Amino acid sequence: MIDLEPAWLGLILLGVFTFYAAKRGLRSTTGIHPYPPGPPMRPLIGNIMEVGSRYAWLKLTGYKEQYGDLVYFQGLGKSVLVVNSLKAILDLLEKRANNYSDRPVLIFGNDLIGMNRTFLFADYGEEWRAQRKLAHAALGPSAVKDYISMQENVSIELSRELIKAPQDFYSLIRLAAGRTVITVTYGVRSASAEQEFIILAEEINRVCQKAAIPGAYLCDFVPWLKYAPSWVPFQRVATYGRRLLDDVLDKPFKYVQKEMDTGKAVPSLVQHLLSDPPEAVADFEEKVKRAAATIFACPQIYSVVLAFILAMAQYPEAQRSAQAEIDRVVGTDRPPRMEDMPDLPYVNAVIKEAMRWRPTLPLGVPHRSTEDDVYGGFFIPKSTVILANVWAVAFQPDEKYEPQAFLPERFLDPAHPTIDPAIWAFGFGRRICPGRYLAENSLFMFISTLLWAFDISPPASGEIKVASKEYILRYDTALAPICLMLIPTNT
Ligand code: HEM
Repeated sequence: MIDLEPAWLGLILLGVFTFYAAKRGLRSTTGIHPYPPGPPMRPLIGNIMEVGSRYAWLKLTGYKEQYGDLVYFQGLGKSVLVVNSLKAILDLLEKRANNYSDRPVLIFGNDLIGMNRTFLFADYGEEWRAQRKLAHAALGPSAVKDYISMQENVSIELSRELIKAPQDFYSLIRLAAGRTVITVTYGVRSASAEQEFIILAEEINRVCQKAAIPGAYLCDFVPWLKYAPSWVPFQRVATYGRRLLDDVLDKPFKYVQKEMDTGKAVPSLVQHLLSDPPEAVADFEEKVKRAAATIFACPQIYSVVLAFILAMAQYPEAQRSAQAEIDRVVGTDRPPRMEDMPDLPYVNAVIKEAMRWRPTLPLGVPHRSTEDDVYGGFFIPKSTVILANVWAVAFQPDEKYEPQAFLPERFLDPAHPTIDPAIWAFGFGRRICPGRYLAENSLFMFISTLLWAFDISPPASGEIKVASKEYILRYDTALAPICLMLIPTNT
């Protein structure tokens, strides 16, 4: 058996240190500015463990009333700042982006799986900058115009598949969202390769989501545990994750290389960059591989589409209003096109509301500070992990529009404005989601086409089983029992 005693000794020492730091009154090293407030500290572990709890964003939003916009956690050598208001999030992550654009140190995720090979998890430095620049070539506001007809076709194709197998809406929507991203990145033509790569992307997402929570594995607190032998359970997960990520990096990339060798490659980010490489980029091929894999493994689009479907089944009036608008503007002879977007304000409000009602990433993707800082009179030490609690922004109390209800009207009321989710859903500052233009177009095409083609209603039993208890809808959310009826209308 592995001897864990020194690990636990390390933990205990860290814990004792944390406890006494707390007892000293949470003073910063400057002695002038206190740390931000936070829940009571316990001996040994401080209060850090609360951050990783299930549905943490609900608990953390609850703390807003008690502690305010900044809630601070520390223990076991780590510090985490939860930021509960949009103003404070923007002040830190946007206005002070120089200091708040790094990602957390992840022993398990980065040292063992190598997640920081992708620019989503890479440190804020040269490698990140180079990969992000390559991705921008495919995802910038003017580049995404080239994908509009593909996005229209994928949406129509999804509706056709749903007519044949409405009960499979859950997997068909995931596949369609994945198809959009994979087409942009690799231009995959074969259905079987496409399916294989999308499943790979979903699986790496599942592994990375857990590994991205600082402290999800003990070695994040006790770094030298990363040298534990391979039979220790977390090492087995790490080996699996590393192999999976190798596949995500290599397999679709090799597919494009092969297609290019045989002259069959269709236009895509990888094809474009490999056939016309920019000058003087060191390790160019590896960077293209990594940038492409980062894009390809970010499939949040379907989570919003699933939230929309769930909402339509529960809020028939909103569905009827959106369909009436589509009937009026688009008619029944053709499906909606991207050019209809500006003429469909209610449909656009439905999309915003789906993003608000079930935020895909309720705590964003963590950032990390690189220097000591002072904000609002509080001390934020170097290397603090910052969690932007966008859940608290989405569900802030509103005396006119009940935050828990699905009410697109809230975005159409100039006398009582609601914050547009586009401001917070895609992250902040230098790390803001580079896929947002592509995602917004896809969301419009998927959702307007579904509204045009189907009536979405609860199952015959009238009971929707998913769970409004499930706060976010992702591929790993247990949605299987959900059995909504998608009844074709305009076909
Ligand atoms: C509704 C859909 C989407 C949502 C809500 C979303 C949200 C986010 C968020 C919150 C972040 C973290 C930003 C931060 O650190 O502050 C992010 C990063 C990222 N997203 Fe998205 N995203 C979506 C779709 C996409 C798509 C379709 C792609 C690719 C085509 C993509 C690619 C990326 C990449 C590469 C990053 C990492 C950026 C970096 O660290 O520099 N996202 N996204």
